Amino acid sequence: MYRTHNCGELNLNNKDSKVTLSGWVQKVRLLGGMNFIDLRDRYGITQVTCNQDINNEIFELSKQLGREFVIQIEGIVKERSSKNNNIPTGEIEIEATHLKIINSSKTPPFTIEEKTDGGEDIRMKYRYLDLRRKPLQEKIILRSKMSAEIRSYLTNQDFLEIETPFLIKSTPEGARDFVVPSRMNENEFYALPQSPQTFKQLLMVSGYDKYFQIVRCFRDEDLRADRQPEFTQLDCEMSFVDQESILNTFEGLMKHMFQKFLNVNLNDFPRMTYEDAMAKYGSDKPDTRFNMQFVELNEQLKNKGFVVFDKAELVVGINAEGCSSYSRKQLDKLTDFVKKPQVGAQGLVYIKYNEDGTFKSSVDKFFNSEQLQEIAKLFNAKPGDLMLVLAGNKDKTRKALNELRLEMGSILNLRDPKVFSPLWVIDFPLLEHDEETDKWHAMHHPFTSPKKEDIHLLDTAPEQVKANAYDLVVNGVEIGGGSIRIHERELQQKMFSALGFTEQEAEEQFGFLLGAFEYGAPPHGGIAFGFDRWAALFSGVESIRDCIAFPKNNSGRDVMLNAPASINNEQLKELNLSLASEN
Ligand code: AMO
Repeated sequence: MYRTHNCGELNLNNKDSKVTLSGWVQKVRLLGGMNFIDLRDRYGITQVTCNQDINNEIFELSKQLGREFVIQIEGIVKERSSKNNNIPTGEIEIEATHLKIINSSKTPPFTIEEKTDGGEDIRMKYRYLDLRRKPLQEKIILRSKMSAEIRSYLTNQDFLEIETPFLIKSTPEGARDFVVPSRMNENEFYALPQSPQTFKQLLMVSGYDKYFQIVRCFRDEDLRADRQPEFTQLDCEMSFVDQESILNTFEGLMKHMFQKFLNVNLNDFPRMTYEDAMAKYGSDKPDTRFNMQFVELNEQLKNKGFVVFDKAELVVGINAEGCSSYSRKQLDKLTDFVKKPQVGAQGLVYIKYNEDGTFKSSVDKFFNSEQLQEIAKLFNAKPGDLMLVLAGNKDKTRKALNELRLEMGSILNLRDPKVFSPLWVIDFPLLEHDEETDKWHAMHHPFTSPKKEDIHLLDTAPEQVKANAYDLVVNGVEIGGGSIRIHERELQQKMFSALGFTEQEAEEQFGFLLGAFEYGAPPHGGIAFGFDRWAALFSGVESIRDCIAFPKNNSGRDVMLNAPASINNEQLKELNLSLASEN
């Protein structure tokens, strides 16, 4: 037997019992005639003593141990003379009676402790060692418990977990596909699913009216802290439901999970239309942990002689409470921030509402104190506040002010990761216009249903059509999104035609779905959650990489495997592929 206990469970109740433990050597400390070993596994750390006076042979052997050796020890649980109250096993130690080296270890390239000296790259290369560290283990364990809880919650509500294939044909979720060449079908390719969207809809046609799956999705898109080329969704679909029942069902799941894992009891989630979100926060995923809503000022600030405002489609600002004492340097820093290419504003106008009730602004030449007082009123500003104003093209200015709002929120510590502010964003537009190609795209995906009352606008005013689509946003992160689907062939065809598909193209790509809609398709809808993002949210970290056992780096590489990699000529030939450079 390798072990009778793990390294995290022994305490004074086990005093004087004989135990066997196996694990990794975290540290060895030689103090005179005593060698102290910190023995670690994923449950904790237990101190082991090898006493020269009690057993010289073990004492001598223990001197050969290095960090990360795998050992087995047998011994007696003793009460420690100097206790460590920080760990559950801190009151005891094991006096070793047997020691066996199971496997040795090279010196690891970084320290495997709570805080490590290893840089990002080296830790990615030796991910299996980094995964031994407690901060990562905690996240991986939390993730496992979360998926177990989701399964049990949904199964108890009659949901069925059903797997769908990975080798499929393209599913349009707005990213590029990863493709897999087929050996048996010359010059043909599978695509890996960007989501199981069409399959879950087919399952509804098949009558499995409550479906879920914790499933890997693949998207070839630019990577960020909250995006991986392969990521996991909790994917769900239901039949005979309207938007309201879907939101309620999954709000229930969310509340349950918050309660269970974070001991947080959430009130009913507020709802906000897409239009409001854009006008008040300049984002369809606003961080509502703090207020600082946009105030639109066209009426008050335009046509007063300041050309930047006069030319602008939108003049809009936020009020940074308590910041009127910002120095020139601090204001310059904010100006630099908004001018960064990723933010994209031309400049920043400030209006200080000084503590003494006077105003100082970067547009004093154009606006007198009475006018500034009027503006302060619109902002609900009080003495001591700082109003920050941007102007320009509507969409770009909103986007830039969103970035500035988030930056101010961070500077003012209003984005506490221990505070949770969920929000349903609803009534998304069905379509968005792509300036470059002059084409309409589905804002969510092509299977999303337009609102009944807007269907007649599809041909004449597509930009006005709203969808039965919704996102769940928590603390400014899009955790999930879904919609009520089209379930009638005719409407689906109309949608494809609005997206610029010819009838033949639609048939070629989605004939299977259009066909299925002719055999009694029930009304249905659903949602998918980004499970990695959800796990990151619950772990209190921003990067989803920390919650994925083996993630890719920012260039989409697995640096441990060194993938992607070239394949040999033999394989290429078998797949009927040749390298582009050889052509
Ligand atoms: P959507 O494309 O909005 O919807 O994806 C659902 C959720 O998945 C997460 N997500 C990602 N997480 C990590 N890395 C990525 N690259 C990534 N892309 C998306 C987000 C997002 O909210 N089939 C529809 C769902 C439906 O309509 O039911 C879909 O996939 O948290």
